[in-house]
Amino acid sequence: MRIALAAGDGIGPEIMAATLKLFAAAGVNSLVEFVPVEMGQEIFARGNTRGMTDEAIRVVEDLGVLFKGPMATPTGGGGKSINVTARKMWSAYANYRHFRTLPGVVTPYSKAGINLDFSIVRENIEDTYGGIEHRLTNDVVIAKRIITAPGCDEVLRFAFETAKRLGIDTVHCSHKANIMKMTDGLFLERFRTMAAEYPSIAAPDVIVDALCMNLVMKPQQYKMVVLTNLQGDIVSDLAAGLVGGLGFAPSANIGRNIAIFEAVHGTAPDIAGKGIANPTALLLSGLMMLRHIGLEKQGATIENALLVALEDGAHTGDFGDRTQPTLNTDAFIKEIIARLGKEPHTVKPAPAGKTDRITCVPPPKPESAMMMRTITGVKKEIAGVDVYVEAIHPAADTAVQMERICAASPFNITLISCRGMQVWPRGSAFTECVDYWRVRFELRDSRSATQSDAIALLSRITESNLVSEYELLRTFDGARGWTLAQGQ
Ligand code: NAI
Repeated sequence: MRIALAAGDGIGPEIMAATLKLFAAAGVNSLVEFVPVEMGQEIFARGNTRGMTDEAIRVVEDLGVLFKGPMATPTGGGGKSINVTARKMWSAYANYRHFRTLPGVVTPYSKAGINLDFSIVRENIEDTYGGIEHRLTNDVVIAKRIITAPGCDEVLRFAFETAKRLGIDTVHCSHKANIMKMTDGLFLERFRTMAAEYPSIAAPDVIVDALCMNLVMKPQQYKMVVLTNLQGDIVSDLAAGLVGGLGFAPSANIGRNIAIFEAVHGTAPDIAGKGIANPTALLLSGLMMLRHIGLEKQGATIENALLVALEDGAHTGDFGDRTQPTLNTDAFIKEIIARLGKEPHTVKPAPAGKTDRITCVPPPKPESAMMMRTITGVKKEIAGVDVYVEAIHPAADTAVQMERICAASPFNITLISCRGMQVWPRGSAFTECVDYWRVRFELRDSRSATQSDAIALLSRITESNLVSEYELLRTFDGARGWTLAQGQ
């Protein structure tokens, strides 16, 4: 099997070389050929704002598996994160991270004799990671948060199927549906619907702030948690901290056709070039990759050798027993190589695995981008329109003006809010406002309206106002497709 390989920036080439040396010693290279692809800082420096060449994209799409080191994201300028581009372009929708207590990695929990072994599944594509942001007025910037039913279903299916395969009996859904009733609400609703298909797996939910406290107070109560993208990003770094830090946090980004394996940490510019980085997280990500392609037995052999080396006190500078010598990256890997074939005695050996040959096939080439549709056959009707205007005069003055403008339309002004808080017709003098009003118009009586009616209204509003956005209010099978304003 051929696997695309991007060594990465900063410490990337050092930890990648060390990991591949270990793989070679374990006999992996007779079954796998690593094909280098050009991604990273140097490619940005050539003026390529994607940070990867067309040839790199072609190779990854042909081979279906990418093993990558960390990549630096340029700060400022046009260059976007290669990591996010890769996950989104290739629809690697599920980010799977496994956190466990490792021998020789001292944490407050290991000192208390608490053994941790849990995973976080994070949605990888949607949410605010669309990076769809706009400056609307002098003082206001906004970001769009996109959550979709098919996007939820893909990651939730992955979570339940992974739990089933690994014998995990509880999957928690974590969310903020008490506040974000439509976006997190959809994620939670799809979770509950899908959980019904897996009756042997308990499927409770937990609000994300409570989850954070629980993870610190009693992390052993979780086995698998599935979250939306941004919340999952934050919680999974918290989880990495519980088991000893980023040096021990591997991740797999899994999609329908393409899978990307990488450490959670970044390029560690402060120690790059010194040869002292900890390769464990990249190595553990590589083990996920070996298992993904079918080399389960080789994965177990290498993992056991790592566990024995850790048991024996081998460590790089970022962790471990300071009474034992600190090893550089290469020496650390040599200690693991020296223990290939051994099994740990203080922790459970890695599951032996069933296969020792490639079972993964290269992805079929899709003809075009796939159109996903989950919820169909819904009756939709226009019920109003939210118009966002830039204004510095009081809401009551805006209301008088808008009442006049909408008088001849099928819509009537019903609300003005600022930063989501109702300020008209009821409001409080204590509510602090900014130069960005949402004016809500709803259908009068039982009339019906078309999009053209809404546009005609908008057009009249723009004669005397700057409209920065508008959103149609629609009902879906009679249910409101929008939320009430705070205080409404
Ligand atoms: P970082 O993870 O690179 O470093 C944070 C701290 O952890 C540093 O003190 C570093 O020395 C230490 N550290 C990280 N990995 C280590 C290892 N394997 N061994 C020993 N110590 C290690 O995070 P930072 O500094 O915020 O980001 C640096 C660059 O990496 C940025 O350009 C960022 O965009 C990028 N990055 C890339 C990621 C990826 O490619 N998946 C993920 C996170 C950040």
